[in-house]
Order: sequence, then C-alpha cells, then structure tokens
Amino acid sequence: MKRLFGIVLLTLLIFIPIILAACQSTSEYPIDYEQLGEDERIVIRFSHVVGEDTPKGMAARKFAELVKERSDGQIEVQVFSNGTLYKDGEELNALLRGDIQMIAPATSKLTNLVPEISIMDLPYAFRNYDEISDYIFSDIGKALFDKLKNHNLRVAGLWHSGFKQLSNNIRPITHFSALDGLRIRIMPSDILAEQFSTFGASPKRIDFNTVFNQLQKGNIDGQENTLSNITSKNLTSLQNYLTISNHGYLGYFLLFNSEFWEILDEDVQILLTETLEEVQLWEWELAKQMNEEKLSEIENCECIEIHYLSDKDIALWEEAFEPVYTYYKKQYGSKNVDALPKFSH
Ligand code: LMR
Repeated sequence: MKRLFGIVLLTLLIFIPIILAACQSTSEYPIDYEQLGEDERIVIRFSHVVGEDTPKGMAARKFAELVKERSDGQIEVQVFSNGTLYKDGEELNALLRGDIQMIAPATSKLTNLVPEISIMDLPYAFRNYDEISDYIFSDIGKALFDKLKNHNLRVAGLWHSGFKQLSNNIRPITHFSALDGLRIRIMPSDILAEQFSTFGASPKRIDFNTVFNQLQKGNIDGQENTLSNITSKNLTSLQNYLTISNHGYLGYFLLFNSEFWEILDEDVQILLTETLEEVQLWEWELAKQMNEEKLSEIENCECIEIHYLSDKDIALWEEAFEPVYTYYKKQYGSKNVDALPKFSH
C-alpha cells in the first residue's frame, strides 16, 4: 500500500509541472497572425489603377500599413496599384463579383451604375475642396451614394485626386472655342462627354492606363486630368500645351463589396472605419499639396507651354457650359444641381 502511494505521488510530481507548463505556454504566447494562412487572416484585396506616387497610391499604402499595425497583422490589406491586378474598366466588375474586396474608382466611373453621380463631373460645379466634401457628406450627397447600396457596394469615404487641367498637342487653349475639333480623352461619363461636345470637341472614352499609348499613336490630341495623374504618367512629354483651367473635379469613392463588409465582426468594421476616417483627412491634405508641387515642377521644367485661365476667362467658360447643366437636369432632374453650393449659398 505504501509502495502504491509512493508511485502515485511520484507520478503526480512528474506530470503536474508538465501539464501546468503546457497550459501556460498557450496562454502566454501571443498568436502570430502573420504566420496564419489566408483563410485564417482577413485579407482585403484593394485594386486601383494609378501609380504608387499619387495621392490615391500613397493613401492606399498608408491605410494598409495602419490596418496591419492596429490589428497585429490579423487584417491584411493587399494593395495592387497601376491596374496590375484588374485594369481600369475591369476592377468594378471584379469588386461586384467579390473577387476583390475594395476599390477607389473615380466617381465618373460609377456613372454607368448610378448616372446621377455624374453631378460630380459637371464643369465648375465646385469652387474648392471644402465645397466638395460638404456636398458629398450632406443629405443630398449621401442619397447619391446610398444608391450604390442596391449594387452591393458600400461607400466608405471620399478621396481627392484634385481639380482637372487640360492638355493637348494642337494649339494653346484659353478660349473654349479652341477646343473645336480636338479629340480629347475622357473617363466614361456622359456628362464629361457633353462637356467636350458642347464645344465641338470629340470625347474619347479611354482607359487610364492606355492614355499615354493613345497619345503617342496620335489617336487622340489631348486629355483632361489632375496634375498628379498627368505627371505620374509623364503625359507632359507627349503634349505641347497645358491649360490650368481647374474646370472639373476628380475624386474617388472608397468602395467595399457589401456582402464582404457585412460578414466582418463589428470590432473589425470599427477598426477599418476609424482608420479610413484618419487616412481620408491625411489624403485630402496630400492631394492638395501634391497638385501644387506638380504645378511648380512643370513650371520649372519648361517642357510644356502653360496657359492660365484668369477669373474673367473662367466666368466665360462657366457661362458657356450652361448646356451641360441643362443636359443633367433634363436627364436626372434639377434637385442635385440646385443643391450645389454655388447655387444654394
Ligand atoms: C482616370 O481614369 O483618369 C482616373 O480615374 C485615374 C484615377 O484613378 O485617378
């Protein structure tokens, strides 16, 4: 009996520390999420069509870094820039199919789904960045992007590219009549098409990533874009004339596939939402600053003839663009137009 008691005691003395150590090892060591497989981590594939060195490219990277840090690597945002995963014109369908989870397309590229969003494309609709964010986050703006919900899309914010300028290789443009007969690349939006056909130009809907090539081949004479986009594709090397017209706004809706969003845990949704709010403010400053820097770079390079529209010129252009506003109102009613800051206050 004494012997049996001795054996039991010895067994307990040997095994209890082992069991305790095993329990401790699982509770003491943190989980290394980075070593988890894709099906254990949350992976957000974020595709876009511009370069890394643009406001959108930099903000996408910043968002990915912050999310990784704040989730200890449990959430991974994989950014695919330059249209490497899906090209312009493909990424929206890829998001709708759920092949990727996030994109940030120019609002103009959503006008096939929700044509009223082309309010953002109306020339001289906004005088400054504050007017844009005020409009988009007002009830009228929210009603616009809420329409994307019907397409399984959730809008998670607004990023700026900036105000657009005009370039071409035929002639200097200070008066809108100089646009007559020019073939100009646009993003896919009826309002952008109207904007140019009003002045006798031929609008050409061409993917962003092929603009350089189409200009080089001589299939188009010019294009409109923000300076950060123009310089990121080195378009100034192919164009003789640049007009600083600030005639339209180019911005992005940050979009998630809604089905994907809804299956995320609430704490993950909060982390993503708060991080996006922070990155949005950062991106707004960056976009402004980068467009200013690009303007001084272009001025200094003396590689393209630059023309600046004066306030008087702009007033004339604005008046001449009236038919584009009439077109919008005829198609989609006047409510969105009347609510534009320049008409409402
Ligand atoms: C364009 O097609 O010109 C832009 O939408 C590209 C971009 O995403 O800024």
